[in-house]
Amino acid sequence: MYYNEDIVEEVRVRNDIVDIISGYVSLKKKGASYFGLCPFHNEKSPSFSVSRDKQMYYCFGCGAGGNVFTFIMEYENFTFPETLKMLAERAGMELPEAELSKEEKRASDYKTMLREMNRQAANYFYLLLHSERGKNAYDYLTDRGITKETIKKFGLGYADIYSDDLYQYLKSKGYTDSQLKDSGLVTIDEKRGGSDKFWNRVMFPILDVNSKVIGFGGRVMGDGNPKYLNSKETAVFDKSRNLFGLHIARTSRKPYFIVCEGYMDVISMHQAGFINTVASLGTAFTPFHGTLLKRYTKEVILSYDSDEAGTKAALRAIPILKESGLVVRVLNLKPYKDPDEFIKALGAEALEERIKEAISSFMFEIAVLKQQYNENDPESWTMFAHELAKKLSTISERLERQNYIEACARTYHMGVKDLEELVNRYGMTMYRTKEQGENEREKKSEKEKKDDGYRQSQRLLLTWMVNEPRLFEQLKGIISADDFIEPSYHSVAKMLFEEYEQEHKVTPAKILNQFTEVEEHNQVAVIFNTTLKMAPSPEDNEKALTDVVRRVKEYHINYDMEHSNDIGMWQKLIKEKAELQKLYVSLHFS
Ligand code: UTP
Ligand code: MN
Repeated sequence: MYYNEDIVEEVRVRNDIVDIISGYVSLKKKGASYFGLCPFHNEKSPSFSVSRDKQMYYCFGCGAGGNVFTFIMEYENFTFPETLKMLAERAGMELPEAELSKEEKRASDYKTMLREMNRQAANYFYLLLHSERGKNAYDYLTDRGITKETIKKFGLGYADIYSDDLYQYLKSKGYTDSQLKDSGLVTIDEKRGGSDKFWNRVMFPILDVNSKVIGFGGRVMGDGNPKYLNSKETAVFDKSRNLFGLHIARTSRKPYFIVCEGYMDVISMHQAGFINTVASLGTAFTPFHGTLLKRYTKEVILSYDSDEAGTKAALRAIPILKESGLVVRVLNLKPYKDPDEFIKALGAEALEERIKEAISSFMFEIAVLKQQYNENDPESWTMFAHELAKKLSTISERLERQNYIEACARTYHMGVKDLEELVNRYGMTMYRTKEQGENEREKKSEKEKKDDGYRQSQRLLLTWMVNEPRLFEQLKGIISADDFIEPSYHSVAKMLFEEYEQEHKVTPAKILNQFTEVEEHNQVAVIFNTTLKMAPSPEDNEKALTDVVRRVKEYHINYDMEHSNDIGMWQKLIKEKAELQKLYVSLHFS
Protein backbone atom coordinates (compact mmCIF):
# COMPACT_ATOMS: atom_id res chain seq x y z
CA MET A 1 0.00 0.00 0.00
CA TYR A 2 1.47 3.34 -0.97
CA TYR A 3 0.68 6.75 0.35
CA ASN A 4 1.39 10.00 -1.29
CA GLU A 5 4.71 11.35 0.04
CA ASP A 6 3.41 14.85 0.59
CA ILE A 7 0.65 13.58 2.80
CA VAL A 8 2.98 11.41 4.86
CA GLU A 9 5.26 14.39 5.31
CA GLU A 10 2.40 16.67 6.27
CA VAL A 11 1.23 14.23 8.92
CA ARG A 12 4.76 14.09 10.29
CA VAL A 13 5.20 17.86 10.39
CA ARG A 14 1.85 18.34 12.10
CA ASN A 15 2.82 16.00 14.93
CA ASP A 16 5.65 17.48 16.93
CA ILE A 17 7.78 14.65 18.23
CA VAL A 18 8.34 16.17 21.66
CA ASP A 19 4.58 16.62 22.13
CA ILE A 20 3.83 13.07 21.04
CA ILE A 21 6.51 11.33 23.07
CA SER A 22 5.70 13.43 26.14
CA GLY A 23 2.35 11.67 26.15
CA TYR A 24 4.14 8.36 26.74
CA VAL A 25 7.41 9.19 28.45
CA SER A 26 8.21 11.87 30.98
CA LEU A 27 10.86 14.08 29.40
CA LYS A 28 13.22 16.69 30.83
CA LYS A 29 15.00 19.36 28.77
CA LYS A 30 18.76 19.14 28.84
CA GLY A 31 20.64 21.37 26.43
CA ALA A 32 19.16 21.14 22.97
CA SER A 33 17.47 17.79 23.63
CA TYR A 34 14.92 16.21 25.90
CA PHE A 35 15.79 13.16 27.96
CA GLY A 36 13.78 10.43 29.66
CA LEU A 37 13.76 6.75 30.57
CA CYS A 38 13.73 4.61 27.45
CA PRO A 39 10.38 2.81 27.03
CA PHE A 40 12.00 0.13 24.87
CA HIS A 41 14.40 -1.33 27.40
CA ASN A 42 14.75 -1.39 31.16
CA GLU A 43 16.92 1.33 32.56
CA LYS A 44 17.38 3.40 35.69
CA SER A 45 19.08 6.49 34.30
CA PRO A 46 17.76 8.25 31.21
CA SER A 47 19.56 7.58 27.95
CA PHE A 48 16.55 8.18 25.74
CA SER A 49 16.81 11.50 23.90
CA VAL A 50 14.34 13.42 21.79
CA SER A 51 15.39 16.28 19.57
CA ARG A 52 12.92 18.96 18.54
CA ASP A 53 15.29 20.31 15.89
CA LYS A 54 15.78 16.98 14.21
CA GLN A 55 12.27 15.74 15.05
CA MET A 56 13.83 12.42 15.99
CA TYR A 57 14.45 10.27 19.03
CA TYR A 58 17.34 8.02 19.85
CA CYS A 59 18.27 5.78 22.77
CA PHE A 60 21.97 5.65 23.53
CA GLY A 61 21.32 2.54 25.61
CA CYS A 62 19.54 0.21 23.22
CA GLY A 63 19.81 1.94 19.85
CA ALA A 64 16.08 2.38 19.33
CA GLY A 65 15.48 5.46 17.26
CA GLY A 66 13.57 7.14 14.49
CA ASN A 67 10.98 9.79 13.82
CA VAL A 68 7.48 10.22 15.19
CA PHE A 69 6.18 7.35 13.00
CA THR A 70 8.82 4.96 14.29
CA PHE A 71 7.98 5.80 17.85
CA ILE A 72 4.28 5.06 17.45
CA MET A 73 4.99 1.89 15.44
CA GLU A 74 7.33 0.63 18.15
CA TYR A 75 5.35 1.75 21.16
CA GLU A 76 1.87 0.82 19.97
CA ASN A 77 2.96 -2.11 17.86
CA PHE A 78 1.20 -0.52 14.91
CA THR A 79 1.94 -1.06 11.24
CA PHE A 80 2.87 1.97 9.20
CA PRO A 81 -0.65 2.53 7.80
CA GLU A 82 -2.15 2.24 11.29
CA THR A 83 0.36 4.76 12.60
CA LEU A 84 -0.27 7.17 9.78
CA LYS A 85 -3.98 6.96 10.40
CA MET A 86 -3.65 7.60 14.12
CA LEU A 87 -1.35 10.59 13.73
CA ALA A 88 -3.45 12.04 10.93
CA GLU A 89 -6.54 11.84 13.12
CA ARG A 90 -4.66 13.44 15.99
CA ALA A 91 -3.72 16.35 13.76
CA GLY A 92 -7.29 16.65 12.52
CA MET A 93 -6.36 15.67 8.99
CA GLU A 94 -8.49 13.65 6.65
CA LEU A 95 -6.48 10.89 5.04
CA PRO A 96 -7.39 10.15 1.45
CA GLU A 97 -7.90 6.52 0.50
CA ALA A 98 -4.63 4.70 -0.06
CA GLU A 99 -3.87 4.25 -3.71
CA LEU A 100 -4.61 0.66 -4.69
CA SER A 101 -4.70 -1.04 -8.04
CA LYS A 102 -8.12 -2.01 -9.34
CA GLU A 103 -7.57 -5.65 -8.52
CA GLU A 104 -6.27 -4.84 -5.03
CA LYS A 105 -9.19 -2.58 -4.47
CA ARG A 106 -11.72 -5.23 -5.43
CA ALA A 107 -10.13 -7.85 -3.15
CA SER A 108 -9.82 -5.35 -0.35
CA ASP A 109 -13.45 -4.29 -0.70
CA TYR A 110 -14.53 -7.90 -0.65
CA LYS A 111 -12.60 -8.58 2.53
CA THR A 112 -13.95 -5.43 4.10
CA MET A 113 -17.44 -6.66 3.28
CA LEU A 114 -16.77 -10.04 4.94
CA ARG A 115 -15.36 -8.42 8.05
CA GLU A 116 -18.30 -6.07 8.21
CA MET A 117 -20.69 -9.02 7.92
CA ASN A 118 -18.88 -10.79 10.75
CA ARG A 119 -19.14 -7.64 12.81
CA GLN A 120 -22.88 -7.47 12.18
CA ALA A 121 -23.20 -11.11 13.20
CA ALA A 122 -21.22 -10.50 16.39
CA ASN A 123 -23.52 -7.59 17.16
CA TYR A 124 -26.54 -9.77 16.61
CA PHE A 125 -25.21 -12.55 18.88
CA TYR A 126 -24.32 -9.97 21.52
CA LEU A 127 -27.82 -8.53 21.51
CA LEU A 128 -29.35 -12.02 21.70
CA LEU A 129 -27.20 -12.88 24.72
CA HIS A 130 -28.61 -9.87 26.51
CA SER A 131 -32.22 -10.61 25.50
CA GLU A 132 -34.76 -12.92 27.08
CA ARG A 133 -33.89 -15.62 24.51
CA GLY A 134 -30.29 -15.60 25.66
CA LYS A 135 -30.95 -15.97 29.35
CA ASN A 136 -29.61 -19.53 29.61
CA ALA A 137 -26.45 -18.61 27.78
CA TYR A 138 -25.94 -15.54 29.94
CA ASP A 139 -26.35 -17.66 33.06
CA TYR A 140 -23.97 -20.25 31.65
CA LEU A 141 -21.25 -17.62 31.26
CA THR A 142 -21.77 -15.95 34.61
CA ASP A 143 -21.90 -19.36 36.31
CA ARG A 144 -18.47 -19.94 34.86
CA GLY A 145 -17.31 -16.79 36.61
CA ILE A 146 -17.27 -14.45 33.64
CA THR A 147 -18.20 -10.91 34.59
CA LYS A 148 -20.41 -8.49 32.72
CA GLU A 149 -17.36 -6.37 31.88
CA THR A 150 -15.52 -9.35 30.42
CA ILE A 151 -18.54 -10.30 28.31
CA LYS A 152 -18.50 -6.80 26.93
CA LYS A 153 -14.76 -6.63 26.46
CA PHE A 154 -14.71 -9.85 24.41
CA GLY A 155 -18.10 -9.19 22.82
CA LEU A 156 -19.40 -12.63 23.78
CA GLY A 157 -22.78 -13.61 22.38
CA TYR A 158 -25.37 -16.28 21.83
CA ALA A 159 -26.61 -18.04 18.70
CA ASP A 160 -30.13 -19.16 19.43
CA ILE A 161 -32.21 -22.24 18.65
CA TYR A 162 -33.79 -21.01 15.41
CA SER A 163 -32.13 -22.47 12.40
CA ASP A 164 -32.14 -19.41 10.15
CA ASP A 165 -32.57 -16.27 12.19
CA LEU A 166 -29.01 -15.03 11.60
CA TYR A 167 -29.47 -15.75 7.90
CA GLN A 168 -32.65 -13.68 7.83
CA TYR A 169 -31.04 -10.91 9.85
CA LEU A 170 -28.05 -10.63 7.51
CA LYS A 171 -30.35 -10.78 4.47
CA SER A 172 -32.27 -7.88 5.91
CA LYS A 173 -28.99 -5.97 6.05
CA GLY A 174 -28.69 -6.37 2.29
CA TYR A 175 -26.21 -9.23 1.92
CA THR A 176 -26.68 -11.58 -1.03
CA ASP A 177 -26.75 -15.38 -0.79
CA SER A 178 -23.40 -15.62 -2.51
CA GLN A 179 -21.79 -13.19 -0.06
CA LEU A 180 -23.40 -15.01 2.86
CA LYS A 181 -22.06 -18.31 1.63
CA ASP A 182 -18.51 -16.96 1.54
CA SER A 183 -18.73 -15.74 5.12
CA GLY A 184 -18.97 -19.27 6.48
CA LEU A 185 -21.71 -18.15 8.85
CA VAL A 186 -24.52 -19.89 6.97
CA THR A 187 -24.93 -22.75 4.53
CA ILE A 188 -27.12 -22.30 1.48
CA ASP A 189 -29.09 -25.26 0.20
CA GLU A 190 -30.76 -24.99 -3.19
CA LYS A 191 -34.04 -26.42 -1.93
CA ARG A 192 -34.17 -25.46 1.72
CA GLY A 193 -32.55 -22.08 1.45
CA GLY A 194 -30.14 -20.66 3.99
CA SER A 195 -29.49 -22.05 7.45
CA ASP A 196 -27.25 -20.91 10.26
CA LYS A 197 -24.04 -22.71 11.05
CA PHE A 198 -24.22 -21.99 14.76
CA TRP A 199 -27.22 -22.70 16.90
CA ASN A 200 -27.80 -22.80 20.62
CA ARG A 201 -24.20 -22.00 21.36
CA VAL A 202 -22.31 -19.40 23.36
CA MET A 203 -20.39 -17.38 20.81
CA PHE A 204 -16.78 -16.21 21.05
CA PRO A 205 -15.99 -13.67 18.32
CA ILE A 206 -12.47 -14.00 16.97
CA LEU A 207 -10.81 -10.68 16.21
CA ASP A 208 -7.75 -10.08 14.10
CA VAL A 209 -4.86 -7.98 15.30
CA ASN A 210 -6.66 -4.83 14.14
CA SER A 211 -9.71 -5.67 16.26
CA LYS A 212 -11.87 -6.67 13.28
CA VAL A 213 -14.19 -9.67 13.69
CA ILE A 214 -13.07 -12.42 11.31
CA GLY A 215 -14.78 -15.53 12.68
CA PHE A 216 -16.32 -17.30 15.65
CA GLY A 217 -15.92 -20.16 18.04
CA GLY A 218 -19.20 -21.43 19.49
CA ARG A 219 -19.45 -23.60 22.60
CA VAL A 220 -22.28 -25.93 23.54
CA MET A 221 -23.66 -25.19 26.96
CA GLY A 222 -22.89 -28.26 28.98
CA ASP A 223 -21.94 -31.53 27.29
CA GLY A 224 -22.31 -32.13 23.60
CA ASN A 225 -20.38 -32.75 20.48
CA PRO A 226 -18.48 -30.98 19.19
CA LYS A 227 -17.73 -28.94 22.29
CA TYR A 228 -16.53 -26.04 20.17
CA LEU A 229 -17.60 -25.35 16.63
CA ASN A 230 -15.43 -22.87 14.72
CA SER A 231 -16.04 -20.78 11.62
CA LYS A 232 -14.53 -22.38 8.57
CA GLU A 233 -11.62 -20.59 6.97
CA THR A 234 -12.61 -17.73 4.68
CA ALA A 235 -10.88 -14.96 2.79
CA VAL A 236 -10.51 -13.11 6.10
CA PHE A 237 -10.26 -15.99 8.55
CA ASP A 238 -6.94 -17.84 8.44
CA LYS A 239 -6.48 -19.95 11.55
CA SER A 240 -2.78 -20.39 11.02
CA ARG A 241 -2.17 -16.65 11.05
CA ASN A 242 -4.36 -15.37 13.84
CA LEU A 243 -4.39 -15.75 17.60
CA PHE A 244 -7.29 -15.30 19.96
CA GLY A 245 -6.77 -12.30 22.23
CA LEU A 246 -3.86 -10.82 20.27
CA HIS A 247 -5.63 -7.52 19.60
CA ILE A 248 -5.56 -6.88 23.34
CA ALA A 249 -2.35 -8.69 24.25
CA ARG A 250 -0.34 -6.64 21.80
CA THR A 251 -1.01 -3.51 23.84
CA SER A 252 0.02 -5.10 27.14
CA ARG A 253 3.66 -4.04 27.00
CA LYS A 254 4.69 -6.98 29.18
CA PRO A 255 8.09 -8.57 28.64
CA TYR A 256 6.52 -11.92 27.73
CA PHE A 257 3.33 -13.40 26.27
CA ILE A 258 1.38 -16.30 27.73
CA VAL A 259 0.08 -18.83 25.23
CA CYS A 260 -2.67 -21.21 26.26
CA GLU A 261 -4.93 -23.66 24.49
CA GLY A 262 -8.46 -22.43 24.77
CA TYR A 263 -10.79 -19.47 24.37
CA MET A 264 -11.99 -19.81 27.96
CA ASP A 265 -8.41 -19.82 29.23
CA VAL A 266 -7.65 -16.56 27.47
CA ILE A 267 -10.82 -14.99 28.81
CA SER A 268 -10.15 -16.05 32.41
CA MET A 269 -6.56 -14.95 32.18
CA HIS A 270 -7.50 -11.51 30.88
CA GLN A 271 -10.14 -11.18 33.56
CA ALA A 272 -7.49 -11.99 36.17
CA GLY A 273 -5.24 -9.25 34.79
CA PHE A 274 -2.99 -11.31 32.51
CA ILE A 275 -3.91 -9.40 29.38
CA ASN A 276 -0.76 -10.59 27.65
CA THR A 277 -2.43 -13.97 26.97
CA VAL A 278 -3.35 -15.47 23.60
CA ALA A 279 -4.44 -18.87 22.24
CA SER A 280 -4.40 -20.53 18.86
CA LEU A 281 -7.77 -21.14 17.26
CA GLY A 282 -8.43 -24.78 18.00
CA THR A 283 -5.55 -25.78 15.71
CA ALA A 284 -1.91 -26.61 16.21
CA PHE A 285 0.72 -23.95 16.47
CA THR A 286 2.21 -22.90 13.11
CA PRO A 287 5.41 -21.09 12.12
CA PHE A 288 3.18 -18.14 11.16
CA HIS A 289 2.00 -17.96 14.76
CA GLY A 290 5.63 -17.98 15.83
CA THR A 291 6.54 -15.07 13.56
CA LEU A 292 3.40 -13.22 14.53
CA LEU A 293 4.28 -13.48 18.23
CA LYS A 294 7.86 -12.50 17.56
CA ARG A 295 6.58 -9.15 16.29
CA TYR A 296 5.33 -8.34 19.75
CA THR A 297 7.51 -10.15 22.26
CA LYS A 298 10.76 -12.00 22.84
CA GLU A 299 9.56 -14.58 25.31
CA VAL A 300 6.60 -16.93 25.45
CA ILE A 301 5.29 -18.83 28.44
CA LEU A 302 3.39 -21.91 27.37
CA SER A 303 0.45 -22.56 29.57
CA TYR A 304 -1.11 -25.61 27.98
CA ASP A 305 -3.41 -28.12 29.64
CA SER A 306 -1.61 -30.30 32.14
CA ASP A 307 -3.00 -33.53 30.63
CA GLU A 308 -1.26 -35.73 28.11
CA ALA A 309 -2.76 -33.96 25.11
CA GLY A 310 -1.61 -30.60 26.45
CA THR A 311 1.92 -31.88 27.06
CA LYS A 312 2.08 -33.27 23.53
CA ALA A 313 0.85 -29.98 22.12
CA ALA A 314 3.49 -28.10 24.13
CA LEU A 315 6.25 -30.41 22.88
CA ARG A 316 5.13 -29.69 19.32
CA ALA A 317 4.89 -25.94 19.85
CA ILE A 318 8.32 -25.51 21.49
CA PRO A 319 10.52 -26.08 18.43
CA ILE A 320 8.26 -23.90 16.29
CA LEU A 321 8.44 -21.02 18.74
CA LYS A 322 12.18 -21.39 19.21
CA GLU A 323 12.64 -21.44 15.45
CA SER A 324 11.03 -17.99 15.38
CA GLY A 325 13.68 -16.79 17.81
CA LEU A 326 11.50 -16.76 20.90
CA VAL A 327 12.63 -17.79 24.35
CA VAL A 328 10.18 -20.40 25.61
CA ARG A 329 9.27 -21.34 29.16
CA VAL A 330 6.61 -23.73 30.35
CA LEU A 331 4.15 -23.22 33.17
CA ASN A 332 3.18 -25.96 35.58
CA LEU A 333 -0.54 -25.80 36.39
CA LYS A 334 -0.82 -29.04 38.32
CA PRO A 335 -2.97 -30.27 39.90
CA TYR A 336 -5.34 -28.17 37.80
CA LYS A 337 -6.21 -28.89 34.20
CA ASP A 338 -5.92 -25.50 32.58
CA PRO A 339 -5.36 -21.82 33.43
CA ASP A 340 -9.10 -21.23 33.74
CA GLU A 341 -9.46 -23.89 36.43
CA PHE A 342 -6.23 -22.85 38.14
CA ILE A 343 -7.34 -19.25 38.52
CA LYS A 344 -10.74 -20.30 39.78
CA ALA A 345 -9.15 -22.52 42.42
CA LEU A 346 -6.09 -20.54 43.54
CA GLY A 347 -6.43 -17.03 42.11
CA ALA A 348 -4.24 -14.66 40.17
CA GLU A 349 -1.48 -14.24 42.74
CA ALA A 350 -0.80 -17.96 42.89
CA LEU A 351 -0.61 -17.99 39.11
CA GLU A 352 1.84 -15.10 39.18
CA GLU A 353 4.03 -17.23 41.45
CA ARG A 354 3.84 -20.16 39.05
CA ILE A 355 4.84 -17.86 36.19
CA LYS A 356 7.97 -16.91 38.10
CA GLU A 357 8.73 -20.61 38.53
CA ALA A 358 8.10 -21.51 34.88
CA ILE A 359 10.93 -23.72 33.61
CA SER A 360 12.88 -23.39 30.39
CA SER A 361 11.59 -25.39 27.45
CA PHE A 362 14.71 -27.55 27.63
CA MET A 363 14.12 -28.54 31.25
CA PHE A 364 10.49 -29.20 30.36
CA GLU A 365 11.45 -31.54 27.53
CA ILE A 366 13.77 -33.38 29.91
CA ALA A 367 11.06 -33.63 32.56
CA VAL A 368 8.73 -35.23 30.01
CA LEU A 369 11.47 -37.62 28.92
CA LYS A 370 12.10 -38.66 32.51
CA GLN A 371 8.55 -39.88 32.91
CA GLN A 372 9.40 -42.92 30.80
CA TYR A 373 12.06 -44.06 33.28
CA ASN A 374 12.19 -45.28 36.85
CA GLU A 375 14.60 -43.69 39.29
CA ASN A 376 14.58 -46.75 41.54
CA ASP A 377 15.56 -49.17 38.82
CA PRO A 378 19.31 -48.81 38.11
CA GLU A 379 19.00 -50.11 34.58
CA SER A 380 16.16 -47.79 33.66
CA TRP A 381 17.87 -44.86 35.35
CA THR A 382 21.11 -45.45 33.47
CA MET A 383 19.18 -45.45 30.24
CA PHE A 384 17.67 -42.13 31.20
CA ALA A 385 21.13 -40.72 31.94
CA HIS A 386 22.23 -41.72 28.43
CA GLU A 387 19.21 -40.13 26.78
CA LEU A 388 19.72 -37.03 28.87
CA ALA A 389 23.39 -36.82 27.92
CA LYS A 390 22.52 -37.22 24.25
CA LYS A 391 20.16 -34.30 24.44
CA LEU A 392 22.60 -32.17 26.44
CA SER A 393 25.29 -32.83 23.85
CA THR A 394 23.17 -31.07 21.22
CA ILE A 395 23.54 -27.72 22.98
CA SER A 396 26.21 -26.09 20.90
CA GLU A 397 27.27 -23.24 23.12
CA ARG A 398 29.77 -24.43 25.73
CA LEU A 399 28.72 -22.26 28.64
CA GLU A 400 25.05 -22.95 28.06
CA ARG A 401 25.74 -26.67 27.83
CA GLN A 402 27.70 -26.59 31.07
CA ASN A 403 24.93 -24.70 32.85
CA TYR A 404 22.36 -27.23 31.72
CA ILE A 405 24.59 -30.14 32.74
CA GLU A 406 24.79 -28.67 36.21
CA ALA A 407 21.07 -27.94 36.39
CA CYS A 408 20.17 -31.48 35.29
CA ALA A 409 22.66 -33.05 37.66
CA ARG A 410 21.03 -31.11 40.48
CA THR A 411 17.46 -31.87 39.44
CA TYR A 412 18.03 -35.57 38.82
CA HIS A 413 20.55 -36.26 41.58
CA MET A 414 23.44 -37.21 39.34
CA GLY A 415 27.13 -36.43 39.71
CA VAL A 416 28.11 -33.44 37.60
CA LYS A 417 31.38 -35.14 36.56
CA ASP A 418 29.60 -38.34 35.57
CA LEU A 419 27.05 -36.54 33.49
CA GLU A 420 29.71 -34.33 31.93
CA GLU A 421 31.73 -37.33 30.87
CA LEU A 422 28.72 -38.96 29.30
CA VAL A 423 27.78 -35.77 27.49
CA ASN A 424 31.31 -35.48 26.10
CA ARG A 425 31.19 -39.05 24.88
CA TYR A 426 28.04 -38.29 22.86
CA GLY A 427 29.28 -34.89 21.87
CA MET A 428 32.78 -35.79 20.57
CA THR A 429 32.02 -36.05 16.90
CA MET A 430 29.54 -33.27 17.00
CA TYR A 431 31.84 -30.75 18.70
CA ARG A 432 34.67 -31.60 16.35
CA THR A 433 32.70 -30.89 13.20
CA LYS A 434 31.34 -27.82 14.89
CA GLU A 435 34.79 -26.46 15.69
CA GLN A 436 35.91 -27.02 12.13
CA GLY A 437 32.94 -25.05 10.99
CA GLU A 438 33.90 -22.27 13.34
CA ASN A 439 37.45 -22.11 11.98
CA GLU A 440 36.15 -21.77 8.48
CA ARG A 441 33.84 -19.07 9.60
CA GLU A 442 36.74 -17.23 11.21
CA LYS A 443 38.67 -17.32 7.97
CA LYS A 444 35.77 -15.95 6.04
CA SER A 445 35.13 -13.31 8.64
CA GLU A 446 38.39 -11.51 7.82
CA LYS A 447 36.76 -10.22 4.66
CA GLU A 448 33.54 -9.59 6.52
CA LYS A 449 35.40 -7.59 9.13
CA LYS A 450 36.88 -5.46 6.40
CA ASP A 451 33.45 -4.98 4.88
CA ASP A 452 32.12 -3.94 8.27
CA GLY A 453 34.83 -1.33 8.45
CA TYR A 454 33.83 0.08 5.09
CA ARG A 455 30.19 0.00 6.00
CA GLN A 456 31.05 1.95 9.12
CA SER A 457 32.90 4.55 7.06
CA GLN A 458 29.84 5.03 4.87
CA ARG A 459 27.71 5.51 7.93
CA LEU A 460 30.16 7.89 9.49
CA LEU A 461 30.36 10.00 6.36
CA LEU A 462 26.58 10.27 6.22
CA THR A 463 26.61 11.33 9.86
CA TRP A 464 29.20 13.99 9.06
CA MET A 465 27.14 15.28 6.18
CA VAL A 466 23.94 15.47 8.19
CA ASN A 467 25.69 17.27 11.00
CA GLU A 468 27.60 19.61 8.69
CA PRO A 469 25.42 20.11 5.60
CA ARG A 470 27.98 22.48 4.05
CA LEU A 471 29.93 19.33 3.26
CA PHE A 472 27.49 18.77 0.41
CA GLU A 473 29.12 21.80 -1.23
CA GLN A 474 32.64 20.91 -0.28
CA LEU A 475 32.40 17.31 -1.43
CA LYS A 476 30.82 18.18 -4.76
CA GLY A 477 32.68 16.34 -7.48
CA ILE A 478 34.30 14.07 -4.92
CA ILE A 479 31.45 12.18 -3.28
CA SER A 480 28.09 11.30 -4.75
CA ALA A 481 25.23 9.09 -3.59
CA ASP A 482 26.65 6.21 -5.64
CA ASP A 483 29.70 6.06 -3.40
CA PHE A 484 27.48 4.60 -0.71
CA ILE A 485 27.48 0.95 -1.71
CA GLU A 486 25.64 -0.46 1.27
CA PRO A 487 22.01 -0.64 0.04
CA SER A 488 20.35 1.00 3.03
CA TYR A 489 22.93 3.77 3.16
CA HIS A 490 22.69 4.21 -0.57
CA SER A 491 18.99 4.98 -0.47
CA VAL A 492 19.46 7.37 2.44
CA ALA A 493 22.34 9.08 0.68
CA LYS A 494 20.33 9.43 -2.50
CA MET A 495 17.51 11.13 -0.66
CA LEU A 496 19.89 13.44 1.21
CA PHE A 497 21.71 14.49 -1.96
CA GLU A 498 18.44 15.08 -3.77
CA GLU A 499 17.00 17.13 -0.97
CA TYR A 500 20.14 19.19 -0.64
CA GLU A 501 20.23 19.82 -4.34
CA GLN A 502 16.65 21.09 -4.40
CA GLU A 503 16.29 22.83 -1.07
CA HIS A 504 19.83 23.45 0.19
CA LYS A 505 19.05 21.76 3.46
CA VAL A 506 18.49 18.27 4.82
CA THR A 507 15.55 17.06 6.94
CA PRO A 508 16.48 13.72 8.50
CA ALA A 509 13.04 13.02 9.95
CA LYS A 510 11.48 13.43 6.53
CA ILE A 511 13.83 10.94 4.98
CA LEU A 512 12.63 8.32 7.44
CA ASN A 513 9.16 8.58 5.90
CA GLN A 514 10.48 6.48 3.04
CA PHE A 515 10.96 3.47 5.26
CA THR A 516 8.08 1.49 6.66
CA GLU A 517 9.78 -1.04 8.94
CA VAL A 518 10.86 -0.29 12.47
CA GLU A 519 14.20 -2.07 11.94
CA GLU A 520 15.00 0.20 9.00
CA HIS A 521 14.12 3.24 11.07
CA ASN A 522 16.44 2.14 13.86
CA GLN A 523 19.25 1.59 11.39
CA VAL A 524 18.82 4.97 9.77
CA ALA A 525 18.29 6.74 13.08
CA VAL A 526 21.80 5.78 14.12
CA ILE A 527 23.16 7.86 11.24
CA PHE A 528 21.20 10.91 12.19
CA ASN A 529 21.66 10.77 15.91
CA THR A 530 25.30 10.02 16.28
CA THR A 531 27.03 13.06 17.66
CA LEU A 532 30.46 13.43 16.19
CA LYS A 533 33.28 13.55 18.65
CA MET A 534 35.19 16.54 17.38
CA ALA A 535 38.94 16.54 17.80
CA PRO A 536 40.38 19.58 19.56
CA SER A 537 42.15 20.95 16.49
CA PRO A 538 40.58 21.69 13.09
CA GLU A 539 43.46 19.94 11.37
CA ASP A 540 42.74 16.72 13.21
CA ASN A 541 39.10 16.95 12.23
CA GLU A 542 40.01 17.48 8.61
CA LYS A 543 42.35 14.54 8.72
CA ALA A 544 39.67 12.31 10.23
CA LEU A 545 37.11 13.38 7.67
CA THR A 546 39.58 12.98 4.81
CA ASP A 547 40.29 9.51 6.01
CA VAL A 548 36.61 8.60 6.00
CA VAL A 549 36.11 10.04 2.52
CA ARG A 550 39.12 8.11 1.23
CA ARG A 551 37.84 4.86 2.66
CA VAL A 552 34.42 5.34 1.16
CA LYS A 553 35.93 6.10 -2.25
CA GLU A 554 38.35 3.22 -1.95
CA TYR A 555 35.58 0.79 -1.21
CA HIS A 556 33.60 2.02 -4.18
CA ILE A 557 36.62 1.52 -6.44
CA ASN A 558 37.27 -1.97 -5.06
CA TYR A 559 33.64 -2.80 -5.56
CA ASP A 560 33.73 -1.68 -9.19
CA MET A 561 36.93 -3.66 -9.77
CA GLU A 562 35.34 -6.78 -8.38
CA HIS A 563 32.40 -6.33 -10.68
CA SER A 564 34.21 -5.57 -13.89
CA ASN A 565 36.30 -7.55 -16.42
CA ASP A 566 37.13 -4.65 -18.64
CA ILE A 567 40.86 -3.88 -18.77
CA GLY A 568 40.32 -0.27 -19.70
CA MET A 569 37.99 0.13 -16.77
CA TRP A 570 40.55 -1.46 -14.46
CA GLN A 571 43.26 0.93 -15.54
CA LYS A 572 41.01 3.85 -14.91
CA LEU A 573 40.09 2.53 -11.47
CA ILE A 574 43.70 1.88 -10.50
CA LYS A 575 44.57 5.43 -11.43
CA GLU A 576 41.68 6.76 -9.40
CA LYS A 577 42.84 4.73 -6.46
CA ALA A 578 46.33 6.17 -6.64
CA GLU A 579 44.93 9.68 -6.81
CA LEU A 580 43.01 9.12 -3.63
CA GLN A 581 46.23 9.62 -1.73
CA LYS A 582 46.33 13.23 -2.88
CA LEU A 583 42.82 13.91 -1.70
CA TYR A 584 42.36 16.33 1.15
CA VAL A 585 39.06 17.60 2.44
CA SER A 586 39.16 21.00 4.00
CA LEU A 587 36.51 22.05 6.47
CA HIS A 588 37.41 25.76 6.38
CA PHE A 589 37.01 25.93 10.11
CA SER A 590 38.85 29.19 10.56
P1 UTP B 1 -10.54 -27.65 25.57
O1 UTP B 1 -11.35 -28.88 25.40
O2 UTP B 1 -9.36 -27.68 26.48
O3 UTP B 1 -11.54 -26.55 25.99
O4 UTP B 1 -10.11 -27.18 24.13
P2 UTP B 1 -11.43 -25.36 27.02
O5 UTP B 1 -10.81 -24.21 26.37
O6 UTP B 1 -10.88 -25.82 28.31
O7 UTP B 1 -12.96 -24.99 27.17
P3 UTP B 1 -13.93 -25.23 28.34
O8 UTP B 1 -13.25 -24.73 29.55
O9 UTP B 1 -14.23 -26.68 28.38
O10 UTP B 1 -15.09 -24.41 27.92
C1 UTP B 1 -9.14 -26.18 23.92
C2 UTP B 1 -9.43 -25.47 22.63
O11 UTP B 1 -9.46 -26.38 21.56
C3 UTP B 1 -10.42 -26.00 20.60
C4 UTP B 1 -11.00 -24.69 21.09
O12 UTP B 1 -10.27 -23.63 20.52
C5 UTP B 1 -10.76 -24.77 22.58
O13 UTP B 1 -10.75 -23.49 23.17
N1 UTP B 1 -11.50 -27.02 20.46
C6 UTP B 1 -11.79 -27.88 21.46
C7 UTP B 1 -12.22 -27.05 19.30
O14 UTP B 1 -11.96 -26.28 18.37
N2 UTP B 1 -13.24 -27.97 19.16
C8 UTP B 1 -13.55 -28.82 20.15
O15 UTP B 1 -14.49 -29.60 19.99
C9 UTP B 1 -12.81 -28.77 21.33
MN1 MN C 1 -11.29 -25.31 30.27
